[in-house]
Amino acid sequence: MRNRRSKVLDDFKEFMSPGKVRVYRRYGMTVVMDDREGACFHDFNGRRFYNFHCNGGVFNLGHRPESTAKALRDAMAAKMDMGSWCAHNPIRERFAEALAATMPAPLPRVLLCASASDAVDAAIRLAMTHTKRAKVVSAHGGYHGSSAYAVAAGDARFRDPVHGQLPGFVQVAFGDALAMEHEIDGNTAAVILETIPASYGMVIPPDDYFARIRAACDKHGAIFIIDETQTGLGRTGKLWAIEHWGVAPDALICGKGTSGGYYPIAAACFSDRFDATLDGGFFHYTESAGSDLGCAVALRVLEITNTPEFLDNVLGRATQFEGWLKDLVKRYPRYLHGFRQKGMFMALVFRDEATSMAALKSMFDHGVYTVYAANDKRAIQILPPLTITDEEYRHGARALDDALVAMDRLKYRALRAILRLAVTSPV
Ligand SMILES: Cc1ncc(COP(=O)(O)O)c(C=O)c1O
Repeated sequence: MRNRRSKVLDDFKEFMSPGKVRVYRRYGMTVVMDDREGACFHDFNGRRFYNFHCNGGVFNLGHRPESTAKALRDAMAAKMDMGSWCAHNPIRERFAEALAATMPAPLPRVLLCASASDAVDAAIRLAMTHTKRAKVVSAHGGYHGSSAYAVAAGDARFRDPVHGQLPGFVQVAFGDALAMEHEIDGNTAAVILETIPASYGMVIPPDDYFARIRAACDKHGAIFIIDETQTGLGRTGKLWAIEHWGVAPDALICGKGTSGGYYPIAAACFSDRFDATLDGGFFHYTESAGSDLGCAVALRVLEITNTPEFLDNVLGRATQFEGWLKDLVKRYPRYLHGFRQKGMFMALVFRDEATSMAALKSMFDHGVYTVYAANDKRAIQILPPLTITDEEYRHGARALDDALVAMDRLKYRALRAILRLAVTSPV
């Protein structure tokens, strides 16, 4: 097995990215994924990890859920394949109808997309075309994907190194409604925000935040796009996180979890105010968007997640996690500043970047797989599957607890000290 693992890494270095292999090796955090099930996966070296990241929601239903696997198998047995964007395909129409029916506001027009980045680009493009304006306001610390408009709307950390700044794209502090109100004007095509920004460490905005942005958009005729790629599909205990704030966006982006862990597919849903702009019928076409197989899986995901039982279960599990997170903060005040949580959308906030990065390494060593928030590295994301079982929760939580106990060991104290020399940003 060890040889096979080395060969995978050598091949990855040769044919994909030597840099990626080097970076993970440097921190002793290389993973070569082998078999996966539920909340866990194994490395080829036999190590088991509890997945507390789940690719930001791709594995909301755990690894390899039988429900979505069956949907995929059934669709293939029914002689489906990718289908064609030129044609009409019953499964696409069924998924679009089902998705539109779940929206927190009347958003009956659905554009099927290949990825959430693709959906973000489509939404911004539609807002620009519709309003005949080019200004787009978003928030510092956000991440909306890797396509051109998505990068331009994202934080400078991702945008500037690739010269991704586009004219008309401006950003203000997340959660600051006044700053947003000042920025939204008669030139604004769209405001795009994550409901709770994952890459910024799950910062929960004030209660009146989205209502004030909605009002400012209405005042100036701007389109309000909400990006639920990570927060959607039940993650926060409501199907769409924006429901917690009771505000109706003009467009909603979803993705990741729509894949059921098997078949990438995303969507952008719009209100019918865009009908005239969409009237040509060929606004967004890309070959791999909205494949028939993807729609079959995503439809099954909706059937599972959009039920009171599923959402109640998420809230019940979230209460369990809340008690545990509170306890961790009380027991490890030397390392932990606090935690953020909306349902099962959670982050542990450490005292500084060096501490959080050392803790991330300790978690890895103790079999908990997750990431820090790229735009605030003090925060470590806690995103287990929404379907995590009692046993998986017990073992995963224990492993993370052990990782914090181990922070006293020379190995992690030394790592923290070395990292302190490189990064400093105290809370
Ligand atoms: C909030 C948000 N929007 C958009 C994206 C882009 O998703 P994709 O990688 O499917 O293009 C991501 C990916 O992490 C995301 O977190």
